[in-house]
Amino acid sequence: MIEPVYLAAPDRYEKMEYRRAGKSGIRLPLLSLGLWQNFGSHSPFQESKKILHYAFDRGICHFDLANNYGPEYGTAEETFGRVMASSFRPHRDELFISTKAGYDMWPGPYGNWGSRKYLTASLDQSLKRMNLDYVDIFYTHRMDPETPVEETMQALVDIVRQGKALYAGISRYSRERGLEAARYLAEHDVPCLLFQDRYNILDRNIREKGIIDMTVEENAGLVVFSPLQQGLLTGRYLNGIPKDSRMARNQSLKQSVLTPELTAALQGLDTLAQKRGQTLAQMSLSWLMHDPRVTSVIVGASSVAQLQDNLQAMACQAFSQEELAEIDRLSALHWIRQYP
Ligand SMILES: NC(=O)c1ccc[n+]([C@@H]2O[C@H](COP(=O)([O-])OP(=O)(O)OC[C@H]3O[C@@H](n4cnc5c(N)ncnc54)[C@H](OP(=O)(O)O)[C@@H]3O)[C@@H](O)[C@H]2O)c1
Repeated sequence: MIEPVYLAAPDRYEKMEYRRAGKSGIRLPLLSLGLWQNFGSHSPFQESKKILHYAFDRGICHFDLANNYGPEYGTAEETFGRVMASSFRPHRDELFISTKAGYDMWPGPYGNWGSRKYLTASLDQSLKRMNLDYVDIFYTHRMDPETPVEETMQALVDIVRQGKALYAGISRYSRERGLEAARYLAEHDVPCLLFQDRYNILDRNIREKGIIDMTVEENAGLVVFSPLQQGLLTGRYLNGIPKDSRMARNQSLKQSVLTPELTAALQGLDTLAQKRGQTLAQMSLSWLMHDPRVTSVIVGASSVAQLQDNLQAMACQAFSQEELAEIDRLSALHWIRQYP
């Protein structure tokens, strides 16, 4: 069957707010789309493509990937590469595409963590899978406790110099190592312009550990992931565990976290969201957007309907002091304390 040609919505940039990353030329959509789950070989390609088209038609021009996104590893990049070839190619210069390396990808000593060898080989593989000549930003996906930070950062510097990435970023580094990394990059004229970390109503570690302050001090942008705590901060789990949900798979989101106490807290948050005229997902995203230090919120979605719901969060970013205090009161007992 011949597929209809994709024509991007002409008004796509009118619907989105863009925030500047620190003091840089990068301007990201306030809501970005992440392809960690739901875009790999286990998900129907046509549905993934629909979500990607829907996103771009609404001004989401930032897509967040990594070598190991899928499942299976690598297949989210392949899906993106297919959509790149079939639909997004004429729009390449409008897109801000990220990928990362830092978690286990292939066997042996060079398929994980932060060595120069792993990062360099991984990005070459990612570019092939995504049908790209370069990515817009390449991240070291996590801090490597053993490889010297200088080696990892020099790999990023060289990747930028080779034109395989336009910018370098850091994901999930402690404040101390993040500052060291940022200093190295700045001294080599490849400033770290984006820090990526987890932040949501239930997980405020980056605020408590000074990571958010660090992004401001470094004049960098802050891109936050798992804004819905993988779906917990939505209507998904208010009445049990739906069969088609991420928690039903019991992998990255464990069923054991859903205690009766947490369910009660989520129900309280849902009631507050309703009073604000929002869904719980929307309120959770608006809560992040309310913080001007957040450059972009990377959301995941398993359907167009979820993304449609999430996009409406932008319309209601203001919170009263009472609402903020009520969110703290309802969620405080469940704040995730481990870091990273
Ligand atoms: N740098 C890193 O180390 C790192 C780590 C994790 C993630 N990330 C990035 O951040 C992105 C987002 O992470 P995440 O997927 O954990 O984000 P999330 O937005 O917290 O969770 C996404 C999940 O929430 C559910 N959902 C989303 N919108 C919904 C709505 N309106 N109503 C009901 N349920 C809704 C869906 O679950 P169901 O699938 O159950 O429908 C969806 O798969 C990733 O794709 C990745 O790009 C980066």
